[in-house]
Amino acid sequence: MKFKKHHFDSLKSTNETAFSYEIGDVIIADKQTGGRGRYGKTWESPLGNLYMSIVLPDFGVDTGNLAFVLAVSVANALQKFGVCVKWPNDILLEGKKLVGILLERHDDKIIAGIGVNVASSPKTEMAYETADLGGCLSVEEVSDLILSALSKALDVFQAKGLGAILEQWKHVAVGMGEPIRVNLPQGQIHGIFRDLSVSGALLLELPDKTITEITAGAVFFDTKKGK
Ligand code: BTN
Repeated sequence: MKFKKHHFDSLKSTNETAFSYEIGDVIIADKQTGGRGRYGKTWESPLGNLYMSIVLPDFGVDTGNLAFVLAVSVANALQKFGVCVKWPNDILLEGKKLVGILLERHDDKIIAGIGVNVASSPKTEMAYETADLGGCLSVEEVSDLILSALSKALDVFQAKGLGAILEQWKHVAVGMGEPIRVNLPQGQIHGIFRDLSVSGALLLELPDKTITEITAGAVFFDTKKGK
């Protein structure tokens, strides 16, 4: 897939601006004044980090499938730093969050918003620590690496389907086979992260040995993990 970058000095949210752009367009801002995170949270967006939203077709699939395509793309792009993925699409460096990905559907388009802590790790309202790349690459270099990796991952997704992407995801995932906690709207549950379902749901083995499928929720490790 070919991408066309549109650069802005400052935007409220690159995801919001991307709603009125076409498939293949990429919106990048130097900073955001109302950066959006998951669960309705704010994504702190000072100068120096990457704020990028890519307009993708929905490929006729559930948005959740693309979450794995995006996670694999960003992990491949930043593999030389030793990053890991945390279900479904957080990118961690040394166990701390380096990249946030927010997918939003708009008609038949998917807006894939990616925030990378290139220069600094802003404090968040969420219950996790953050990491950054210490400015060892430029924002431009990081965006190019991600777009090139995304182009390859989309080819794999279209040629071989979600299964091939999930296999790649498992190779860079953290926490599989280990005890985790998952925060759900109805409370927290503990178990062992056994595998992914064919659609990417987290298969959690509960203390009574039954397996439950988690399709949405925040994952925490009972021990600190991540390279
Ligand atoms: C998360 O909470 O983990 C997702 C954060 C996503 C932040 C990015 S920054 C670029 C794009 N524009 C936004 O307003 N949000 C996403």
